[in-house]
Amino acid sequence: ALVRRTTFLKGSVSMQTLPKPDRGEVAFIGRSNVGKSSLVNMICNRKALAYTSKRPGKTREFNFFAVNDKEGVMKEVRYGDEVRGVRDFDCFYLVDLPGFGYAKVSREQKEEWSEFQREYFEKRKNLRVVFHLIDSRHGLVSEDLRIMRECSTIFSTKKDVSYVIVLTKADKNDKLGRGKVSKNVMENVRTAMRENGVGGRPIIATSAETKMGRDGMWGYLKEGFK
Ligand code: GTP
Ligand code: MG
Repeated sequence: ALVRRTTFLKGSVSMQTLPKPDRGEVAFIGRSNVGKSSLVNMICNRKALAYTSKRPGKTREFNFFAVNDKEGVMKEVRYGDEVRGVRDFDCFYLVDLPGFGYAKVSREQKEEWSEFQREYFEKRKNLRVVFHLIDSRHGLVSEDLRIMRECSTIFSTKKDVSYVIVLTKADKNDKLGRGKVSKNVMENVRTAMRENGVGGRPIIATSAETKMGRDGMWGYLKEGFK
């Protein structure tokens, strides 16, 4: 896929301050330190477009990155009577979310983020793809199950949103060899997906380090814009 240009647009902390929904949007969600910002960079072929850190809790706002320019690719799409803006994957936003589960964030802040995130998933009309990231070495945390349930409810009525589970850091499973994910983690994830209403949605193993899964993620990205 052709990435001509990527720029950081803005960070949002509320529904009121989101950018205009004039193009499709792809969101990255997952626990703190799982590798969201790193995968945003991988998708864009950039080293430090989104800031990453060894320490959890780096991303503190909904960060919007504009991929390519808007000019010339505006398209209106109708869903019945409703006009839903552009669907052209040549021009879209990537949205890097704050991670959940980071101990040093106050309870109030956590609740604010998860409330904002739920409302964002529910109401954001130009949302096309949700990449839900899970660390391939550590597997699920309880918040992951909440996200699955939420996505199951919200996106069952919004058939046009692609929801994809992304297993991250697949290069780091030293005992198994590069690019492998343990059967145990895989089985747990599949079971959790089934039990939380998102069975049958795709799973992809990735590594921002080796660029494994890059083409696959682009594939799902494009599918979400069909
Ligand atoms: P928050 O912003 O805190 O929610 O974290 P994040 O999910 O954005 O994680 P980030 O991309 O900042 O990555 C966290 C750490 O994991 C960094 O030290 C990255 O270099 C490392 N990391 C991310 N992806 C990979 C990967 O595919 N392989 C390896 N080996 N390390 C990775
Ligand atoms: Mg981050």
